[in-house]
Amino acid sequence: MTQRNSPADGGATSVPVVSVENVRKTFESHMVLNGISISVSRGETLAVLGRSGTGKSVLLRLIIGLETPDSGSVRIHGQDIAGLTLDRMGEIRKKMGFLFQHAALYDSLTVAQNVAFPIEHHRREMASSEQRDRVRSLLAEVGMEHDLEKMPSDISGGMQKRVGLARALALEPQILLLDEPTAGLDPISSGEINDLILKLQREHQMASIVVTHDMHSARTIADRLSLLDQGNVVIEGKFEDLQQSDIEFVKEFLKQS
Ligand SMILES: Nc1ncnc2c1ncn2[C@@H]1O[C@H](COP(=O)(O)OP(=O)(O)OP(=O)(O)O)[C@@H](O)[C@H]1O
Ligand SMILES: [Mg+2]
Repeated sequence: MTQRNSPADGGATSVPVVSVENVRKTFESHMVLNGISISVSRGETLAVLGRSGTGKSVLLRLIIGLETPDSGSVRIHGQDIAGLTLDRMGEIRKKMGFLFQHAALYDSLTVAQNVAFPIEHHRREMASSEQRDRVRSLLAEVGMEHDLEKMPSDISGGMQKRVGLARALALEPQILLLDEPTAGLDPISSGEINDLILKLQREHQMASIVVTHDMHSARTIADRLSLLDQGNVVIEGKFEDLQQSDIEFVKEFLKQS
């Protein structure tokens, strides 16, 4: 399954859903991001690649508003999130579904309770029977409807990622941010997660950013790839553009992945 989505309007005229412009981020004296720009439109998937420690997770945390840039801007639907009130940022965050790199699930909650968590907090108006139906249908969407009462420790890594995806979709997000969705999985499970991400993306037409080390996954699920190194975007384009690049770092990265 390798069909890809393209932005509804070709991406040429609309304001991107997520736009990171010239963002710098330093921790103490350690420069992590040195003027990064990326953007993603509705129905489009951008893969962010790079070696360990290049700031991929920091980039996602900046988009979610869990970190603030030293300079540059993060815009969601054109609106700069710097200086927003907590309430307003909370509203914007509800439009985002995210799967963190570590801690994909709450260990002490069942599969169903994990997926119910955001619904119980943000859809209080929903009757509990309706909430249960919603949890069931979300888990069915990721093929986990038979494991509602299991604990995260009793299911495989691939299944945990599926449940994490169901939870990320719980509030019908317009933006999906996935940090290493296939890390630690065997090739078959990774392939299943890739297929699932493609299916979800086709059905929901979100603006998606997927951070990954996994070039095969990036090729399969993304419309565009952005390769980071030393705080900068080294190259951005389709996989073929990376393959044809003369940049030494790009050639090395492709060779090693
Ligand atoms: N809150 C923080 N305080 C200090 N340093 C931080 C903080 N968050 C991240 N860093 C540093 O920023 C750098 C980038 O971290 P980040 O987690 O974004 O890397 P990454 O590209 O996601 O790596 P990996 O592929 O291993 O997940 C690392 O050197 C990390 O130690
Ligand atoms: Mg990371």
